[in-house]
Amino acid sequence: MRRILCLETTCDETAAAVLDADLNVLGEVVASQAELHRKFHGVVPEIAARAHLERVLPVISEVLKSAQVTLDQLDAIAVAHTPGLAGSIIVGLMAAKALCLATGKPLIGINHLHAHIYACHIASGKEIFPCIGLIVSGGHSNFYRCEGPTDFKYLGGTIDDAAGEAFDKVASLLGLPYPGGPQISRCAERGDRKRFPLPRPLLDQKDRLDFSFSGLKTAVRYQLVGPGKQDITQLEIEEGLRNDLAASFEEAVVDCLVGKSLLAVRQTEINRLCVGGGVAANRRFRERLAEACQKADVELHIAPMNLCTDNAVMGGIAFEKLSRGQFDSLDLDIRPGLDRGDMNSNAI
Ligand code: KG4
Ligand code: ZN
Repeated sequence: MRRILCLETTCDETAAAVLDADLNVLGEVVASQAELHRKFHGVVPEIAARAHLERVLPVISEVLKSAQVTLDQLDAIAVAHTPGLAGSIIVGLMAAKALCLATGKPLIGINHLHAHIYACHIASGKEIFPCIGLIVSGGHSNFYRCEGPTDFKYLGGTIDDAAGEAFDKVASLLGLPYPGGPQISRCAERGDRKRFPLPRPLLDQKDRLDFSFSGLKTAVRYQLVGPGKQDITQLEIEEGLRNDLAASFEEAVVDCLVGKSLLAVRQTEINRLCVGGGVAANRRFRERLAEACQKADVELHIAPMNLCTDNAVMGGIAFEKLSRGQFDSLDLDIRPGLDRGDMNSNAI
């Protein structure tokens, strides 16, 4: 049975996994850096890169040990090399290249966004292509027409903040720690989703599969301090107000994500939707999307919670290249840039 080691270091998780060709997970390790970034209310790229450097080799050793696999028993080493934070990706890529050089094993580059969607296939074992792919993470909120595991065409996405970024920034406004998504979600469950009539940006534009979350974030701020430059860091926010604002904000984001997802399906006539990325772990979003898709008779796959946030298991997409003998040279470079439609190529 073929086996691969997958590495993921595109943002603030140092992760490794060993999978076999049936996509069974033989071992998995995720070393989160959340505590290092907490006091800055978001990921600090330089801190992330340094932490990856410290952690990548111990994480690899640990995953091989737990999978009871040695390096010479691997058929390839896969690594996410695009998109993400340059300093972070480079650590994973260099570790993968060094292992390839030392062992003679082939290198496989992975597109992190493709992998987020492929997590739906790894989890369900079901065919997912063709589908509409929605990636909602800290860096992206994008729709793709996905014809195959490496054939993604950009359909639209955020024109400013990503959904996860908005969750993190609004959490910070509300005095909640990073990462903000799970914190907002917890408060929202106790809040009134209708108390604050926040905007649903671009939702009424039926010819666009785009999002805009930056103004929504500002609208939350205005509910707290009104327009102006007031310092929000000293603000005492009463619990009821915090819960209601969190709930109203979450509902606005979910309305946009669900509404545009149905629009994407209708526009493309592709009746299958696959969703991945950290924000897909949001409970309210999962429930509302499942309900809407059932009503509209759309086949829905959402990555399970543990495969929504960054992980290396989703790197199992590398088997799609391994089985075709598509390997990368050791010249493979990082491609950190955000995907705003300029990466329609089939290259991963
Ligand atoms: O996919 P991911 O782990 O990393 C990136 O590739 O960006 O996504 C991280 C993002 C963070 O912004 C985090 O706040 C958000 O996903 N997130 C959530 C939830 N869990 C994580 N957002 C909303 N609700 C959640 N339950
Ligand atoms: Zn991600």
